[in-house]
Amino acid sequence: MRFDVISLFPEMFEAITKYGITSRAHARNIYSVNVINPRDFSQDNHKTVDDRPYGGGPGMVMLADPLAKSINLAKQNQLGLGFKPYVIYFSPRGAVLNHQKVMALSQMQGLILLAGRYEGVDERLINALVDEEVSIGDYVLSGGELPSMALIDAVVRQLPEVLGDADSAVEDSFVNGLLDYPHYTRPEILCLDDSEEQKVPEVLLSGNHAKIREWRLKQSLLLTRAKRPDLLAARSLTKEEARLLKEIGAENN
Ligand code: ADE
Repeated sequence: MRFDVISLFPEMFEAITKYGITSRAHARNIYSVNVINPRDFSQDNHKTVDDRPYGGGPGMVMLADPLAKSINLAKQNQLGLGFKPYVIYFSPRGAVLNHQKVMALSQMQGLILLAGRYEGVDERLINALVDEEVSIGDYVLSGGELPSMALIDAVVRQLPEVLGDADSAVEDSFVNGLLDYPHYTRPEILCLDDSEEQKVPEVLLSGNHAKIREWRLKQSLLLTRAKRPDLLAARSLTKEEARLLKEIGAENN
């Protein structure tokens, strides 16, 4: 998969290409990131890429022209590879990224990601050249680079053969519309600072894989109901999930 990213800070993207799972996938050419700097397309000696907003107010707005030239280069790159260009602009006013969206984007061969800075970009650039606006949450960041990297990381994890254990992505949070179950590793009994001794749940030591699977599903249901009831409300329950939730109810009475 190919990402053409438009950003004033190309070095930031080393955070994904140089570290961890996304670094290994990058080294194996499972995906590539090409960063285009709009400053390379500015028209004056000062390499200006922003200007004051019409109507006044705080901050600066990114000029349409260097961004349009950057997007057009990205489109040429993607068309040259035979990919249909699709342009995403990161902004708090977009639909919030979720697992479903990540899965849909992971099916694409290429994406063009526009990372804005300052107060945003000239609205006419968005009207003319952006296919979709995406947010990563209801808060404001200083630019679109971190959202771009969040999207690339989440999408790359879903590409075939990126994760070592074939099941790792399958059992992640959100995959079945539920939060992930709790994880434990050695030692069996743990006492941190002045807190009480905590034991690994017995069932996980039992070697009974059917029981372990059921316990994990039950924990996922409990956690989702407690922390993200909206996720449960958004989907119907399987027969097994309904039975487990009923059991949870009975245990609590
Ligand atoms: N740019 C600034 N804040 C953002 C957010 N929350 N999501 C996506 N892009 C942004």
